Amino acid sequence: MNPTILPLDWLLGTWQSDEPGEGCFPTIKPFRYFETLQFSHVGQPVVNFSFNAFHADSKKPLHRECGFIRMQPGTNKVAFIVAQNSGLVEIEEGELTGQQLNLRSHAIARISFAKEPHVKEISRVFQLRADGKLEQRVSMATDTQPLMEHLRITYIRS
Ligand code: HEM
Repeated sequence: MNPTILPLDWLLGTWQSDEPGEGCFPTIKPFRYFETLQFSHVGQPVVNFSFNAFHADSKKPLHRECGFIRMQPGTNKVAFIVAQNSGLVEIEEGELTGQQLNLRSHAIARISFAKEPHVKEISRVFQLRADGKLEQRVSMATDTQPLMEHLRITYIRS
């Protein structure tokens, strides 16, 4: 493993939601979903990831994301580079503190025919909890709503 990404070794592997994640936003109906996360490396100073979400009842594929995590050598600064199947591409940046990663959008781009409302800002936290579960929380701001929670989910290692 490249020593630059050693501080992220707690993320590596496959994680499955242990119970349905909760999705909400003032403008949509609350929903529940399952999600599988995969974090891997190939010896580069980069973590590769792919996230696949499924409808909690129908098990139909929903949201999908893939990308890369980089760390600035010698610091706790992290960049999270991600493409989403909705047509959104973004760079989030933030800091690693122990086994918690706090990220905030740094640049957002979208396809010209992306569905409205458009996402203006994203903040995301990954935390390895004391009970061994990984938690992800995502908040977003759109054209019509200020920054608030969209997703909350926990995973167990599989
Ligand atoms: C709705 C963004 C991840 C499921 C939305 C909306 C936006 C959005 C902008 C429309 C809100 C509105 O109409 O006011 C994002 C972003 C994500 C993300 C930026 C990741 C960073 C997910 C994930 C799921 C999900 C992982 C899991 C299934 C949904 C559902 C809706 C929704 C079911 C409501 C129906 C729809 O508009 O398709 N999301 N989302 N989203 N999102 Fe997400």
